[in-house]
Amino acid sequence: MLNVLRTMIARGSRSLTLTYFLRPNSHFGDFISTSRNTKGSIDILKFSYLIQNVCTITPESGVAGMRKPYKDRQDVFDVKDLNSKEPFSQFTTWFEEAKSTPGIIEANAMALATATRDGVPSVRMVLMKGLSKDGIDFYTNYHSQKAQNLDENPIVSLLFWWSVENNQSRQVRIEGKVEKLSQEQSENYFHSRPRSSQIGACVSERQSSAISSREVLDKRKEHLESQYSDESITIPKPDYWGGFRVVPHRYEFWQGQTNRIHDRIVFRKPQTGESIDASVTFQGNDGWVYERLQP
Ligand SMILES: Cc1cc2nc3c(=O)[nH]c(=O)nc-3n(C[C@H](O)[C@H](O)[C@H](O)COP(=O)(O)O)c2cc1C
Repeated sequence: MLNVLRTMIARGSRSLTLTYFLRPNSHFGDFISTSRNTKGSIDILKFSYLIQNVCTITPESGVAGMRKPYKDRQDVFDVKDLNSKEPFSQFTTWFEEAKSTPGIIEANAMALATATRDGVPSVRMVLMKGLSKDGIDFYTNYHSQKAQNLDENPIVSLLFWWSVENNQSRQVRIEGKVEKLSQEQSENYFHSRPRSSQIGACVSERQSSAISSREVLDKRKEHLESQYSDESITIPKPDYWGGFRVVPHRYEFWQGQTNRIHDRIVFRKPQTGESIDASVTFQGNDGWVYERLQP
């Protein structure tokens, strides 16, 4: 293994590949002692660099050892870096950056957390399908578990996470209240989808309810496909399918720092009558205030 290591140092290879040469179940300590016992001439600086990097990613370190570099000190996200004093524009900027960053797939995917009337939480991914100053839209089945939760308790939390290998990790947490989109908005979006997705929505009549087998779903799909084989026939939107809009009252922008002193900037609507402590809380636009949180 050490010969391989020497060759790789000489060639300036990336340390990541080294993990392949560690024995299964070997430990960091084994690795060091192996190297100490040899009379090889490994550059100690390069060696410690390699050790540091190998340690953070070897499977032997387990999940506790998984650690990715994020942004460095010079890339902090500070209040002076906000491109707007209200959160919608800031969110749009980060979202557009995520959308155009290679390696980030489905930048519009977000975790949606709901809770029952009694506070029992539930979280799942959905796709953001509308973004405006009025709110963030997603579409689903009104019979689903999430929709039942929303009937009981309209307060939700959304989470976006955009991460790029060895570069940056950003998270946006949004809290808000949901409202149903109009039938017209849902119709428009439904008919903008590919026909196969429209049929898919019709197949899953009671999303989140148990069904005896996949065959039942496949049979429904075949039936609908033959019913609507003529593409000039409009597939009607089922009444149980449509959109929700999350109207945000809090946004938190989080950007990871390698030293774990992460940046967190929150925009929130102040409570009625709240006295603002100007040493930590700044007045934004459109009724928002913003502040930095301890990481
Ligand atoms: C990336 C991703 C995007 C998804 N987008 C949606 C969506 O836009 N609408 C939806 O109803 N389900 C979507 N799902 C499926 C949901 O996560 C979930 O399984 C389904 O909505 C049922 O959730 P519920 O039982 O909590 O209501 C998505 C799943 C993933 C992994």
